[in-house]
Amino acid sequence: MYVCLCNRVTDRQVRAQAAGGNCTLGSVHNSLGISPKCGKCLPMMRDLVREHQGHAGAASNV
Ligand code: FES
Repeated sequence: MYVCLCNRVTDRQVRAQAAGGNCTLGSVHNSLGISPKCGKCLPMMRDLVREHQGHAGAASNV
């Protein structure tokens, strides 16, 4: 599903970036070669990155 319509970015792309070590919105944007435009997607993108961090943290605590 598209999370950023301005830049045509999907949730899968954001999750892949987070899984690849991009743990901030800025690094995700840089890696995808995009920049925020309207900004409406930022809360959802932030949640996707944080969601991955939560999973990574849980895995490292095992
Ligand atoms: S929807 Fe992402 S910048 Fe507009």
